[in-house]
Amino acid sequence: DAGHYDNGGYEHYLLKEISEQPDTVARTLRGRIDDRFHIAHLGGLNMDARETRSFRRVKIIGCGSAYYSGQMGAQLIEELARIPADAEPASEFRYRSPVVEPDTLYVAISQSGETYDTLAAVQELKRKGGRVLGIVNTVGSAIARETDGGIYLHAGPEVSVASTKAFISTAVAFALLALHLGRVRDLSPADGRRICEGLRRLPEQIKEILTLEDRIKELAKKYADAPGMMFVGRVRGYPVAREGAQKLKEISYVHAEAYPASELKHGPLALISPELPTVAIVPDDELLDKNLTTLGEIRARHGRILMVGHRTSEAADDCIVVPKNEVELDPILLTIPLQLFAYHAAVALDRDVDRPRNLAKSVTVE
Ligand code: G6P
Repeated sequence: DAGHYDNGGYEHYLLKEISEQPDTVARTLRGRIDDRFHIAHLGGLNMDARETRSFRRVKIIGCGSAYYSGQMGAQLIEELARIPADAEPASEFRYRSPVVEPDTLYVAISQSGETYDTLAAVQELKRKGGRVLGIVNTVGSAIARETDGGIYLHAGPEVSVASTKAFISTAVAFALLALHLGRVRDLSPADGRRICEGLRRLPEQIKEILTLEDRIKELAKKYADAPGMMFVGRVRGYPVAREGAQKLKEISYVHAEAYPASELKHGPLALISPELPTVAIVPDDELLDKNLTTLGEIRARHGRILMVGHRTSEAADDCIVVPKNEVELDPILLTIPLQLFAYHAAVALDRDVDRPRNLAKSVTVE
């Protein structure tokens, strides 16, 4: 309950939790990066090297933002550890009677550790002999107890209903897990070092992004009167777009839809008009040119574009430029401005930011 925690002088817990992220990310990383061997120390996994090497697939489950952070995690595991990985909503997973395999590593994500759909999926996996790790914020919670081991986020209590710091810390925990799985397979020491150094840069870079708040506030005011917004990204940028859309709809009640940018032409392009602005996640990676082409297509249909990336572009009406990290870690940083955007849109629309209608912080019933 919000009453138990100090709001630190911030107007809303959500803004406090967004602003805390340089510290909360540092806490998730603390003691877990080995600069000598460029590996991650994750003692809580309770897995020896042999078992760590044995997995041929990773399946991630969670609900809401936890599910989207799992999508970001799957991407990190595929890229760094080269193990096929995907994420699925926990309740969907449970009800389709999934095939539980011994060489699959299952990862359940939950900020609260009490979400019923996720807990029930974990119990079903255990019943069928699955090896389940938890990425959980709340120490000693039900999901933390039911799993075989895991990674605690150490992000501190998250009070506001919409998840922010837990989402980011979960993505960071996945980067550590991917590094860990990768370094006992074919991830080179050089790449291991690159990722370790990238992780260490995150807190400072998040601080830099937080200094953009005034500008993001202006942009949120400018776009918040639209009846709906489209969020697009590709591959690494797609989970960023999904979480950005989720934040906006949860707290501002503005309709928001996330699509892979490449899928626009297969349907949603029909929606594009000046009334439906697009937030485009455009990192400086190998898909940059393709993303800019998509912006041109949106422009040609008179869609307004807010681009979030590593440079400005004439293809967009407005740009938010964030500091660059390693390509694999960039999605973590690209999410931060979208949190601020949703927050300021919700404030501009006079919403109940910390307690949005119809939602609960932790859904402990089915
Ligand atoms: C609720 C909240 C979401 C959250 C989801 C999962 O639906 O409104 O913000 O992402 O539960 O919560 P968990 O505690 O399992 O991460």
